[in-house]
Amino acid sequence: MQSEMAGRLYHVLDSHGFERPLLDELCELTTRIRNIAKMPGGARELQMLLPEARAMLYFPQPSTRTFLSFNNACHILGIRTSEIRDPATSSEVKGESFDDSIRTFSSYVDVIIMRTPEAGYAARAAALMGRIPRPVPIINAGSGKDQHPTQALLDIYTLERSFAERGGIDGKVIAMMGDLRRGRTVRSLCGLMRNYRDVHLVLVAPPAFAMEEDVKQRLRAHGTRFTETSRLSEVLPEIDALYVTRMQTEWDTEGESHGMDYAQFSINPRNLPQLKHDAIIMHPLPRGPEIDPAVDDDPRAVYWRQERNGMWMRVAILVKIFRLEDRIAELASGPAGRG
Ligand code: ASP
Ligand code: CP
Repeated sequence: MQSEMAGRLYHVLDSHGFERPLLDELCELTTRIRNIAKMPGGARELQMLLPEARAMLYFPQPSTRTFLSFNNACHILGIRTSEIRDPATSSEVKGESFDDSIRTFSSYVDVIIMRTPEAGYAARAAALMGRIPRPVPIINAGSGKDQHPTQALLDIYTLERSFAERGGIDGKVIAMMGDLRRGRTVRSLCGLMRNYRDVHLVLVAPPAFAMEEDVKQRLRAHGTRFTETSRLSEVLPEIDALYVTRMQTEWDTEGESHGMDYAQFSINPRNLPQLKHDAIIMHPLPRGPEIDPAVDDDPRAVYWRQERNGMWMRVAILVKIFRLEDRIAELASGPAGRG
């Protein structure tokens, strides 16, 4: 659950509570912000929006793009950042509890952005904020195998932009492929799909890595159509978007992903011709063998664009949390925004 009242955004904990108006607003805001940044003087105007704000990036679980894109998103708005990426350098090694660590961060900063190997820790941090005198918003930048809500938001933005000339996400056939059982990006993205009309989800996974029942139950409860298969070739010609994911080997306990024929769950120059000419290929990255680097040159491959979109969507999320959307509208209609 994330705190969202009357279109406002405070904690961002999971993808479940997002409603369509807020999703549309975040997408518009993202485009508006990147347009401002391109205009002469625009980057400087953006940097003057939050010069007194401070952010904590608490990333004890590894990350490249989420960390860097949030870090740079903060800097785009003038927010100063502190970070802990290795808990061996923090007082956690002295036995300080998670709650006390989070409370300490909140003493110094105005927002905490966090990625943890544990599911539910962002929600736990948010609950703690409800009990202390100086609460700050919590942004979940990935929690265990469970949630990665800001990834889902940038994925929505990428889908909407890619289908801008074709009615957006509504009515599209979207396949999610790979280790759906342990991939938090697909779990979060599924959580947003109820907001779009007539979407058909195709969940393509090896049977042992099929989507978890809790996600499927939510899809059913919201009337989102979905089908499951382990044969990519049968669905490839029908889909508008292929969201590829890697095998989440870091969660193996008994080497369950070893010996798996992942070739059946990959896209490469041999099966690429089966994909519609106007379909798109997405991936949250990092990739493994499931996308052949030769696919990068195909115009349907949008994953590098998706990665860049991430930084701008994260600027929009921060703008919304700090309630600066009206300032963005002013800048967009002012000299910088008009170019
Ligand atoms: N980077 C994404 C995540 O942290 C996807 C992945 O690692 O496979 O969930
Ligand atoms: N997509 C994503 O979350 O990438 P990182 O794990 O590199 O942050």
